[in-house]
Amino acid sequence: MHKILILGSEGYLGSVLVPYLRKLNYKITGVDKCFFGKHNKNSNNINIVKSDYAKLSKNFYKEFDYIIDLVNISNDPASEIDKNFTIKTNFKNKIKLYNKIKELKNIKKYIYMSSCSVYGNNTKIINEKSTPRPISLYSKLCLEFEKYLNKQKKIDFTILRLGTLYGWSPRMRYDIAINKIIRDMLFIRRIEILGGEQLRFFCYNMLACETIGKILAIQDRKFENKILNIGVFNTNIINLAKKILKITKVKNTTLVHEKHNIDNRSYEVSMNTVKKLFKNLSFKKYVDNSILKTFKKIKNDKEPFKKNKVTLNIYKKLLKK
Ligand SMILES: NC(=O)c1ccc[n+]([C@@H]2O[C@H](COP(=O)([O-])OP(=O)(O)OC[C@H]3O[C@@H](n4cnc5c(N)ncnc54)[C@H](O)[C@@H]3O)[C@@H](O)[C@H]2O)c1
Repeated sequence: MHKILILGSEGYLGSVLVPYLRKLNYKITGVDKCFFGKHNKNSNNINIVKSDYAKLSKNFYKEFDYIIDLVNISNDPASEIDKNFTIKTNFKNKIKLYNKIKELKNIKKYIYMSSCSVYGNNTKIINEKSTPRPISLYSKLCLEFEKYLNKQKKIDFTILRLGTLYGWSPRMRYDIAINKIIRDMLFIRRIEILGGEQLRFFCYNMLACETIGKILAIQDRKFENKILNIGVFNTNIINLAKKILKITKVKNTTLVHEKHNIDNRSYEVSMNTVKKLFKNLSFKKYVDNSILKTFKKIKNDKEPFKKNKVTLNIYKKLLKK
């Protein structure tokens, strides 16, 4: 049974990844500072350690076959509050960790969750060979750490550049487009779109989990030192809102389109990689079903406006202290 270490296990993606990998029978240890609470319970095959990943000793890291790194201050405005804190968390301490573990023979692979936001503003359809043009501090640091992994090559790695995530999670985030649109549509019957022409690539959180599952399961060198763009569809934000209204068949919702755009990112990502990985998947059906599943879960959220469901609120409070 492989032993997997998940850094950032209690975050939005970690809180769905841990149960997903648990069902596949991996032995899991999670490490998290629990800024958003603790969402996975310690049990037979799950051990959650509340700690800064940077504070753990080399000995601690001797236990694991795979490291999945989900730690990032992963929201543009949150990453700008205290730049030094972000640079330390998202980059400097990752380098320190890498140096701590680079000679360890037990680690078969380091799987790093990067973001398609490294593409910034690109007018052509993007693939992994396109030149990234990151805009925010968050995406610049994602790219810097990718480059670092690529240069060192002391540990095999796979980098997943995820599209903007959506889907239900026990650590729910309403600062990401699809989740927010669905929440506002359901609970205030009003969707506000700023700009709206900007193109974006979206990734269902369960597809991110399935991709990680595939990387762990396939033991050949297929994913070795590779960057993969992962997501399920591209659209601009105004069409996204219309698409969600159409799929969920919700009526009586006002769509307010504010032409003023504060978001400079715009990119469209090629689906070639993900289509090769998931050969038998009908993406059109998958998108409709995943949006409907998300809709049904959010409908039952008893506290859709709880402050800690917006990443920026938590980091603002934390960094004030
Ligand atoms: N959410 C998205 O739309 C999206 C899109 C593309 C890529 N990603 C990437 O996916 C990964 C996971 O994103 P997420 O949405 O789950 O983010 P998240 O903010 O919900 O989770 C990150 C977790 O890391 C923890 N953490 C922060 N600093 C830590 C430290 N020093 N030591 C230990 N734990 C620490 C936080 O407490 C949090 O639980 C990130 O790497 C992000 O860059 C996310």
